[in-house]
Amino acid sequence: MTSQSNQSNQSDRIIIFDTTLRDGEQCPGATLNVDEKLSIARQLARLGVDVIEAGFAFASPGDFEAVEKIAATVGTADGPVICSLARAIKADIEAAAKALKPAVKGRIHTFISTSDIHLEYQLKKTRKEVLQIAQEMVAYAKSFMDDVEFSPMDAVRTDPEYLYEVLEAAINAGATTVNIPDTVGYTTPNEFGALIKGIAENVPNIDRAIISVHGHNDLGLAVANFLEAVKNGARQLECTINGIGERAGNAALEELVMALHVRRQYFNPFLGRPVDSDASLTNIDTKQIYKTSRLVSNLTGMLVQPNKAIVGANAFAHESGIHQDGVLKNKLTYEIMDAQSIGLHDNQIVLGKHSGRNAFRTRLKDLGFELGDNELNHAFLRFKDFADKKKEITDWDLEAIVNDEIQQAPELFKLELVQVSCGSNAQPTATVTVRVPSGEELMDAAIGTGPVDAIYKAINRVVQVPNELIEFSVQSVTAGIDAIGEVTIRLRDPQGRIYSGHSANTDIVVASALAYINALNRLSAAMQKPGSQAREAIVAQV
Ligand code: KIV
Ligand code: ZN
Repeated sequence: MTSQSNQSNQSDRIIIFDTTLRDGEQCPGATLNVDEKLSIARQLARLGVDVIEAGFAFASPGDFEAVEKIAATVGTADGPVICSLARAIKADIEAAAKALKPAVKGRIHTFISTSDIHLEYQLKKTRKEVLQIAQEMVAYAKSFMDDVEFSPMDAVRTDPEYLYEVLEAAINAGATTVNIPDTVGYTTPNEFGALIKGIAENVPNIDRAIISVHGHNDLGLAVANFLEAVKNGARQLECTINGIGERAGNAALEELVMALHVRRQYFNPFLGRPVDSDASLTNIDTKQIYKTSRLVSNLTGMLVQPNKAIVGANAFAHESGIHQDGVLKNKLTYEIMDAQSIGLHDNQIVLGKHSGRNAFRTRLKDLGFELGDNELNHAFLRFKDFADKKKEITDWDLEAIVNDEIQQAPELFKLELVQVSCGSNAQPTATVTVRVPSGEELMDAAIGTGPVDAIYKAINRVVQVPNELIEFSVQSVTAGIDAIGEVTIRLRDPQGRIYSGHSANTDIVVASALAYINALNRLSAAMQKPGSQAREAIVAQV
């Protein structure tokens, strides 16, 4: 292998490749329906990501539809590149190409494992066979579109000499991006930096491709690994909102972007820029970060831990007296970034009970929500209902209302009534009426350890869908006694699959009941969907 240093792939900007809808969606319980994926994709476009990995088109008809819809609606000329994952198999590549057709800028991302352990136990193929497949399948993908990304899966545990050879062959076959995945989250920053440097120096045609990195957070090092990779030549970062993804998740987009933003003067020289250049290193509109984080959390049911960097509830909260004193005197004493830079304080009071449909629609449009007529009607009715109970409706309240509307799962079960009686020295009792798929309205009652337990027991008696509640949480959207409460729950079916449910309401008892019904609807819809087991089998290979 020749050793040569290539500079032409060293663009001075970092490409942000978002895989929330593909790798992020692979985490248990984060399953999204097509409309929810579309809402997230639209928000990712507003956030300014360069590439959206919209899904894995071959995995199921639902995945195909999501990639195709996102390609058609978000893949515009001035929008992001839309990408679909595909194993290095002809049928996968054909599905990806077909689903991406409506996108102005499409990308096929094809992958095959290259580490000896994967070759021996998973693929049962020799290095020579995998090398051959990689180049043939990249060439096949190239016959459909120019923009082709190739990933040697488990690259971190692949023999570097063999890795160089596979990458060289993939680039010769037409790959324009070569992605280096730390599939098992094993590497450390120095090692990963050295691996990227080795690739930049030892793959003779690397100047014809962008070096990308992808990594999982099993040791909590994904973001640190990526930043070291940037210093050594990586120019595309594959990441997810809130770091969601398989096991411990993927590298978190918001952490990468803000590290590159806050410390741009440190990173500038590695990108060939003057040290004191103030220009952004990414295309991201950082003010959209907080909103995107909340949307993804609400729709996936994956809560953000309070101490999570950048988007956690405590990320900008100063509790200690010394810190508070310092921040009041000069923010910079204890704050390295401004909460406004991630859009955290953009929470104006905008509407009230006299606001009309037009004002409602216009404000939603400003916030970036484009609802169909039906969704808008429902959301407006809910807004009026909220406005009766809550004097001032803020942007965040509006987002909660709309997210709830977007998140509606197929309405197999509908909550018609919920009533509870509880208090000190009282036995919590709930009565519910639920419309079941046959159209019948069934009523039942139950007692429980608390009002929510009683409601869930009563609902279970009516719906008769086996499930186990594994997580329940309530958060308030804004401060104040009349705040909207958001309930997120996760439940497990007898096969161990996890489903989330979400609802927002000024009455947290009602929100709890609706969130449970929402999750049960998702569970029941998934049970009815043909091919859902097949999708899991395919996705399990990635
Ligand atoms: O983690 C991984 O290796 C992947 C590849 C498909 C890029 O997700
Ligand atoms: Zn991955």
